Amino acid sequence: MDNELDWKNLTFGYMPTDYNVRCRYRNGEWGEIEVSQSEMIDLHMAATCLHYGQEIFEGLKAFRGKDGKIRVFRLEENARRIRESAKGLMMAQLPEEKFIEMVKKVVALNARFVPPYGSGASLYIRPIEIGTSAQVGVKPASEYLFIIFVSPVGPYFKTGFRPTKICIMRQYDRVAPRGTGRWKVGGNYAASLTAGVHAHELGYSAVLYLDPKEKKYLDECGPANFIAIKDGVYITPASDSILPSITNKSLMQLAEDMGIKVECRHITVDELDEVDEAAAVGTAAVASPVGEIDDLDTGKKYVIAKDGNPGPVVTRLYDTLRGIQNGDLPDPHGWCTIIEE
Ligand SMILES: Cc1ncc(COP(=O)(O)O)c(C=O)c1O
Repeated sequence: MDNELDWKNLTFGYMPTDYNVRCRYRNGEWGEIEVSQSEMIDLHMAATCLHYGQEIFEGLKAFRGKDGKIRVFRLEENARRIRESAKGLMMAQLPEEKFIEMVKKVVALNARFVPPYGSGASLYIRPIEIGTSAQVGVKPASEYLFIIFVSPVGPYFKTGFRPTKICIMRQYDRVAPRGTGRWKVGGNYAASLTAGVHAHELGYSAVLYLDPKEKKYLDECGPANFIAIKDGVYITPASDSILPSITNKSLMQLAEDMGIKVECRHITVDELDEVDEAAAVGTAAVASPVGEIDDLDTGKKYVIAKDGNPGPVVTRLYDTLRGIQNGDLPDPHGWCTIIEE
């Protein structure tokens, strides 16, 4: 297998693997975990996921270390977060233990697709849950299907660990002020497609959304949280319309471990003038340095990476987190789960 796949040139795309795992919720309870070799699902045309958007998902990764072991990063956190998303959309909540068992199983079954150490690639794990029962009235489904599939992926951001430009466009919101922003709901991503494509067409890697109520504070950065380093302090927006990023949570912990002060608070657009470093953080890239933020409404350009290079604090945080994921550095908080092959 190792010889067949071009590990170094993988994109962030779907690639078939050998197995996926599934679990169905019927008659008020979750069934046994099933292993499937099919990439297809048989779905009723009146399923609630198709009409009323009862769809939630997660994203996490497995890495192969120098020691040959496979490590999955913070799966308990993803288990908890998808339960929150399920609650938000009135869907059945998969028990955390079942989620963990499903992740372990699907990774072990597809171990040959976990890219080798040093390739920069990883195995992306995608859990989804959908409402499957046939309904026409707007109400929660009585039956659900939970699936976890995997796909080997290369780095998310094509330019790698280099600063990119992002933009502020006030005509777009991803979510409503008291809407579904803090859950990982398919509809949020549908709502962000126009803005994302528009930003890409203008040459930006992502949109930096502002809070949807006042349009005054920074919210998040496409499918990633926003962080900045200002006077040696790690700052990141406090907002209930953003997804609580597990990467951000981990980086905040690492920053504290390094003696860096962390502030989770409102950040105004004007404050961007005073930041020394910035990054978009999430599972896909861990941290993608932000070199410039263009406010397309006011015409103001906030140049952050003045010499065009990633800043030292973001680089150190990135290297530390990647080191833990790869098993190159100690894992003092017990974030990695080793998969038995
Ligand atoms: C909207 C959004 N914000 C933030 C993140 C980052 O979250 P995490 O670090 O848990 O991947 C993601 C997913 O990667 C996302 O889709």
